[in-house]
Amino acid sequence: MKTYLVTGGAGFIGSNFVHYMLNKYSKDIKIVNFDKLTYAGNLENLKEIEDRTNYTFVQGDVCDKELVEKLFKKYDFDYVVNFAAESHVDRSIKEPEIFVKTNVLGTVNLLNCAKNAWETQNGFKNGAKFLQVSTDEVYGSLGESGYFVETTPIDSHSPYASSKAASDLMVKAYSDTYKMPINITRCSNNYGAYQFPEKLIPLLINNCLHHEDLPVYGDGLNIRDWLYVEDHCKAIDMVIESGRLGEVYNIGGHNEKTNILIVNSIISYLNENVDKEITQDLIKHVADRLGHDRRYGIDPTKIKDELGWYPETTFEVGIKRTIQWYLDNKKWMKNVTTGEYQKYYKNMYKGV
Ligand code: NAD
Ligand code: TYD
Repeated sequence: MKTYLVTGGAGFIGSNFVHYMLNKYSKDIKIVNFDKLTYAGNLENLKEIEDRTNYTFVQGDVCDKELVEKLFKKYDFDYVVNFAAESHVDRSIKEPEIFVKTNVLGTVNLLNCAKNAWETQNGFKNGAKFLQVSTDEVYGSLGESGYFVETTPIDSHSPYASSKAASDLMVKAYSDTYKMPINITRCSNNYGAYQFPEKLIPLLINNCLHHEDLPVYGDGLNIRDWLYVEDHCKAIDMVIESGRLGEVYNIGGHNEKTNILIVNSIISYLNENVDKEITQDLIKHVADRLGHDRRYGIDPTKIKDELGWYPETTFEVGIKRTIQWYLDNKKWMKNVTTGEYQKYYKNMYKGV
């Protein structure tokens, strides 16, 4: 039986991954979810599985050497899947330091603890692997044509992307220097259930349902390559199982949309199905994000050819499923948008 240390498993993608893995493998794996529970971490995301005997939650910081060492001793992990991060570009522009602390120093602490626990006289613990969940944002921004491949040079722009690039390079260093068994995955923008409503899609859904302005940065023509979160979880599982050691895998797949198209799709779905008063009048063009990357687009050929993965969920299907999840989980949304959230977002758009 394999034991997984999943960091950041109370966040958006991490909690989807915990659900995906426990549904797929049932009692054949053990998961320890290690999460600091920042504003983005939410144990409500895990309610359905929290009583499983092969699932444990531990609250803590990835920078805490003593605690992480203790966990390695206690659970003898086979895999580390590192989702824990500060993940929002706008926050990184305001407060870069915490991004360096969690994303860079936290990753190095995890790498060190894994190395110390896994190193043997003849290499590393058999079958062990450290999987770093990274982002296509480390590659920078594309022009009108071309795609990111795994060999595209790192050219990160935002403090968030640069902190992820720095942590990727540390993971690579542990592979190159100590021959530590690792993979790095770089995915495009995820969407789906349990995403905190600071990111574009849940923020738009929440604001629509409250008839609040829909802030569109700049001209709204920036492009993101949208990936349904369950397709992403499936890819991570495949990379853990079969990814070649030391390799990077890009995860995404020709699902590029302008931001304004996303806004209009959400408005039209809600207008037709929920409330006729949700219209384009809610759209508000606001000042552009500093250093706003224009376009992301992933070429997924490597993961498709080597591991047989492809994104199964079309945007049309995924966005309907996602909107419906938020409609069915209004209490979840209410719980994460009270108190601090209100204050933060008032400041965010002040003066625009
Ligand atoms: P998220 O912000 O929803 O969740 C992050 C989780 O990490 C939270 O549960 C938080 O409590 C936890 N965390 C933060 N600091 C921590 C610390 N110091 N110690 C322990 N736990 C801590 O993020 P997400 O959207 O689920 O992203 C997960 C990972 O995927 C991140 O590494 C992110 O960079 C990467 N990623 C996300 C996207 C996306 O579209 N969301 C795209 C590409 C890559
Ligand atoms: P976001 O969800 O923050 O993801 P990322 O910046 O990591 O790609 O933003 C997605 C796109 O939507 C990005 O081009 C910025 C834009 N955006 C808006 O136009 N308005 C918003 O309120 C937000 C949060 C994002």
